[in-house]
Formats: sequence, structure tokens, C-alpha cells
Amino acid sequence: MNDTFLKACRGEQTPYTPVWFMRQAGRYLPEYQKVRRKVSFLELCKSPALCTEVTLQPIDIFGFDAAILFSDILIPMEAMNLELEFHEGRGPVFPQPVRSQKAVDALIVPDPEATVPFVMETIRLLRKELQVPLIGFAGAPFTLATYLIEGGSSKVFLNTKKMMFQEPELYHHLLLKITACTSLYLQAQARAGAQALQLFDSWAGILAPCDYEQFALPYVRSIIEDLRAMTDIPLIYFANNGATLVRHTVTLGADVLGFDWRLPIGDAIRQAGEHAVQGNIDPVALFLPKERLEQRIKTMLADAREARGYIFNLGHGILPETPPDQVRIAVNAVHRCSGR
Ligand code: CP3
Repeated sequence: MNDTFLKACRGEQTPYTPVWFMRQAGRYLPEYQKVRRKVSFLELCKSPALCTEVTLQPIDIFGFDAAILFSDILIPMEAMNLELEFHEGRGPVFPQPVRSQKAVDALIVPDPEATVPFVMETIRLLRKELQVPLIGFAGAPFTLATYLIEGGSSKVFLNTKKMMFQEPELYHHLLLKITACTSLYLQAQARAGAQALQLFDSWAGILAPCDYEQFALPYVRSIIEDLRAMTDIPLIYFANNGATLVRHTVTLGADVLGFDWRLPIGDAIRQAGEHAVQGNIDPVALFLPKERLEQRIKTMLADAREARGYIFNLGHGILPETPPDQVRIAVNAVHRCSGR
């Protein structure tokens, strides 16, 4: 068992820098596309055998040091009694957005074992196959709420911010339900065998820091407290576009803070204090010519040498257009230049 990733999460010495990529299983891989041609995205997410297959693909092909469960942050939201659709090229859609007390009241806090058993089954199957640690994950409550309130992806998040500012009690009720669901969901993943858990706060960076502190942070804190009470596996918190939020995110009690590319990795490490750090090369830097990509990785590794623990990753998800050969070059460069 290669436990380099888990050691880095805990701030222990590692023989080299572990690497995995957000969205490492996905459309940039012909092997993934082949599976995807046979089933819809939601069918894929609900098939433990296929989820296991696509989770393993990037591990077998590139030698990443951690696997991330194949699923989606919106899967447990569907289980709250919501209709969820994925449209080709448009992403997720909730045809009935949650914008009223009636809609919030209609949401249930589901038992994950009963409503999304395929996720826990995937985790159990993967643990039998994997020689690297398995990361479970969920969306952070604020990010999940934006999808429910907007009815899908958004640019200005008008409906979400309007609810925050005009109907704070309604917003709070909604966030409490999402938080309860997410906490139970992550606890179930830990029980099923996930060896680390990552919370994705993809839209945290659209908030003013004072609003993040009031409308996003408390719900993440509550989930981390619940998890701490039942497991000691590493907890990773990734706030996309979160450079202005670090003074808040360092108070959450996570083991690892994930960073996007807008903050130089050395600055991120200094600001993260006792935390291990994960990140943060621009996903588009994978399109650099080989030598310049390798040089950039070398520089990042040098800038990260003071980290208490360092996990190399992208600053956000890999783009579907990325050539797989470039991923191989990057993973090999991280391993080679960090001493493997
Ligand atoms: O390899 C992995 O990282 C595990 C799988 C994973 C997916 N989604 C698969 C997926 C993970 C960890 C996610 C998280 C997720 N999903 C986030 C947080 C991370 C981030 O990118 O900020 C968010 C915001 C979502 C919601 C979501 N799912 C969107 C906006 C979209 C459409 C945009 C897109 O990239 O297509 C999805 C669909 C999705 N989730 C795909 C995959 C592989 C593409 C679906 C397909 O095969 O057509």
C-alpha cells in the first residue's frame, strides 16, 4: 500500500511528493469516454462496477498517488427529494429550483445507506482493488446551495445572494438541511472505507469575505466537527478562488487546505500555517510544451519545500481538452523532481 498521500496529509515526512488531480477520472480520457458512450452520466454514477472501473483508470494509466471516488457533488442532493438532470454541454440542472419555504420544507435529510447505497458499494469495491488511498468527497454546503437555488450553474449567483440578503432565515433553513445531509453522507463514506475526505467549495470565491464568514463558513465548520467526532482520517477543504478567504479557512480545523492557482504556492503555504497544502498548478499549464511544463513543476516543488505537508494537484479540475500525454509528463515530473 502506497501511503505517501496520507502521510503528506498528516504533515509527516514523505520520500517524494504525492500527486493526484481533481477530476482525474473524466472526459479527457478515451478510456472514460468509452464507458460513457454506453450509459448516461447519472447511470454511470449509480453503477458501482462502472464507477470502480473509471476511478481506477487514471491510477493504472498514470500512477497517481491517490484515487478519488467517481461520483458527483450533486448525487446526494438528488436524494434530498430533488429532480436532477445532466444536460450535454450545459452541466447539471435542477428543473425545480429551491427558492421558497415550501420547497425547503419538501427537502428530506436522507439516510445515505438507504438512498445512495451505490456510493458506499463503490467505496467497498475500490478498497479491494486499490494500492493507493481512496479519497471520498462531498460539495461544501454553500456550493451545493448555489446549484439548488439557481437551478444549475450560474455566473452572478443573483438568486443565491438575494436569498442570503433578503430572506436570511430561509437561506439558513436550507443550509442546515444541506449541512445535515452532507455530514451524514461523509460519515457514511468514512464508515464504508474512504481514507480521506475532501470538501469541494467550488464557488466560495464569489463571496465577499464577510459574507463567506457568515453564510458559508459555519456550515463547513459544523461538518468538520461531526467528522472529527467519529474518524481521524485526513480532511481536505478546497475553496476555489479562495485566496482572500484564508484567514477564515485556517480556522476550520481541516488537516489540508487546497488552493487554486491564483495564489503562489509559497504564499499559500505560509498563510496555511500548520496545515498541509494541496495544489495548485493552473489546469491550462498542462498545455505548456514539455520542457516548460517540467520547469514549472520543478519551480513549484522548490517553492513548496517549506510546507508541513505538500500534495501536488491542479488548482481546479482537469479540462476535458487536456492531452493524456501531458498528464503523464506532469505526474512523472512531480515524482522525478521530488526524489522518487
Ligand atoms: O475524478 C474525479 O475528480 C471524481 C469525479 C468528480 C466529478 N465531479 C465527475 C464529473 C468530482 C469530484 C466532481 C465534483 C464536482 N461536480 C464539483 C466540484 C469540483 C469542481 O469542479 O469545482 C462540481 C461543481 C460538480 C458539478 C458538476 N458536475 C458540473 C458543474 C458538471 C458539468 C461540467 C462538466 O465538467 O461537465 C458536472 C458533470 C461531471 N461531473 C462530469 C464528470 C466526469 C462530466 C460528465 C460527463 O461525463 O459528461
